[in-house]
Amino acid sequence: MLFVCLGNICRSPSAEAVFKDKAHELQLELQIDSAGTAAYHQGNPPDPRSIKAGEARGLDFSGMQARKITDDDFNQFDLILAADNSNFEDLISRSPVEYQHKIRLILSFADYELNGVEEVPDPYYGGENGFEIVLDLLDSSLGRLAQKINNE
Ligand code: 4NP
Repeated sequence: MLFVCLGNICRSPSAEAVFKDKAHELQLELQIDSAGTAAYHQGNPPDPRSIKAGEARGLDFSGMQARKITDDDFNQFDLILAADNSNFEDLISRSPVEYQHKIRLILSFADYELNGVEEVPDPYYGGENGFEIVLDLLDSSLGRLAQKINNE
């Protein structure tokens, strides 16, 4: 499972932390990582605002370092989940055709709970509340995804 956003410092590391927590609860053995479509923050830890909001919910961001998506990721991961439509389009255009079916939106697993919200909004230039919204959205969709995998 690979989570992808633009910078790999806010949304996708938060998704990684949320999903690792869900997978741990259900004892799912999965490879879980995150990456960015851009390399602006290569090597950096997640944004301190993401860490603060996530840790308050008991999430673990230890060892995370931003990286850019690589060609090998498309082969390596079974599911590649994009935070927003722009990330999705970037991934589709970068992916070999035979792996495009692996690419989905992160929120595509939540259905009615999110009242039609399809994208995880970029919180980078906003206030702290944006980071809470990101975690709420991720929690809904990734909780369902973990349940779905657990039932397979
Ligand atoms: P992310 O947020 O894609 O959720 O990690 C962003 C982080 C950095 C920038 C944009 C979005 N940036 O422009 O530097």
